[in-house]
Amino acid sequence: MKILVTGGLGYIGSHTVVELQNEGFDVVIVDNLSNSEISVLDRIEAITGKKPAFENCDVCNTEALRNCFETHGKIDAVIHFAAYKAVGESVENSLNYYKNNVGGMISLLEVMKTCGTEHLVFSSSCTVYGQPDVLPVTELSPLKKAESPYGNTKAMCEDIIRDAIISYKSFSANLLRYFNPIGAHPSALIGELPKGIPNNLLPFVTQTAVGLRKELSVFGDDYNTPDGSCIRDYIYVVDLAKAHVCALKRMINIAQNGNCEVFNVGTGNGVSVLEILNEFMKANGVNVPYKIVGRRSGDIEKVWADTTKVNEVLGWKAQTPFIEVLQSAWRWEKKIRG
Ligand code: UFG
Repeated sequence: MKILVTGGLGYIGSHTVVELQNEGFDVVIVDNLSNSEISVLDRIEAITGKKPAFENCDVCNTEALRNCFETHGKIDAVIHFAAYKAVGESVENSLNYYKNNVGGMISLLEVMKTCGTEHLVFSSSCTVYGQPDVLPVTELSPLKKAESPYGNTKAMCEDIIRDAIISYKSFSANLLRYFNPIGAHPSALIGELPKGIPNNLLPFVTQTAVGLRKELSVFGDDYNTPDGSCIRDYIYVVDLAKAHVCALKRMINIAQNGNCEVFNVGTGNGVSVLEILNEFMKANGVNVPYKIVGRRSGDIEKVWADTTKVNEVLGWKAQTPFIEVLQSAWRWEKKIRG
């Protein structure tokens, strides 16, 4: 069975390609290398013993994308990761985000339609819930107005997929709403490669621990949480990758054309910034200097997932102990710093 993975050399994409190949799927990666390295292809081969097919292509280029589909014969399903993902950048350059993320989504659906590929797994985000009124957040919780153009592109893409399914009854899709992905493959051959100063918490923590950054700024200790810092649901990237395989198998096996299902992909546990920092230092025996600073604008106070649906319907559960996740992140940081 052949799966086309857009953004398959990126952080979550590369881990998902590994899990797909481990499960015997043939993978075609489509990636324009805008936020990834070609060396990841060899690293995937080093982990799985198989080099996936690769096309250097921008999903927004519909004709080039169609070519990728036609070159590789019948594509049974697509997992769509390729998108920009920096919240702050999306505020500064919103049109680029709409053009790339929404434009790429439309281009992909058009090509899938003409090439007869009916199954799609979409990389969505818990950002669509904003600050939920009730926690944990379920898939039926109301969606809130997005805090950023980035968040808006995720909500818009979800809507576009739903409408495409209504128009072209043969499609089916699973929308996976990720919570906060962290960690790296246990082999330390693939992981997150942030460009410049990291926006996200864990890469900043590991870069501070390794001495690349002087200290971590903890954005606010005056939130309405037990220790005053924000709470998130941190999901191990390998567990998250496996959720894609479960979503794909369900779609292909049940062949529910016309169906669109949404799943929260998280652990179900909320962890605060100060907790993650202390756990990281304890798990790895390293010091991470930090200071408390003011709140970061646009931050949600607390969010974590109700995972009942993904556990019961997809038969998937986050499994990796938190300590191992934090150790994998540290192993990866040390490895890339040589
Ligand atoms: N934080 C710090 N210091 C830092 C970086 C982050 O204290 O240097 C805090 C943030 O204030 C927040 C928590 O760590 O409380 C997590 O922040 P991240 O930036 O790692 O993650 P977010 O929850 O803000 O955002 C992430 C992704 C978004 C996505 C969102 C919801 O970056 O792309 O989850 O899915 F939209």
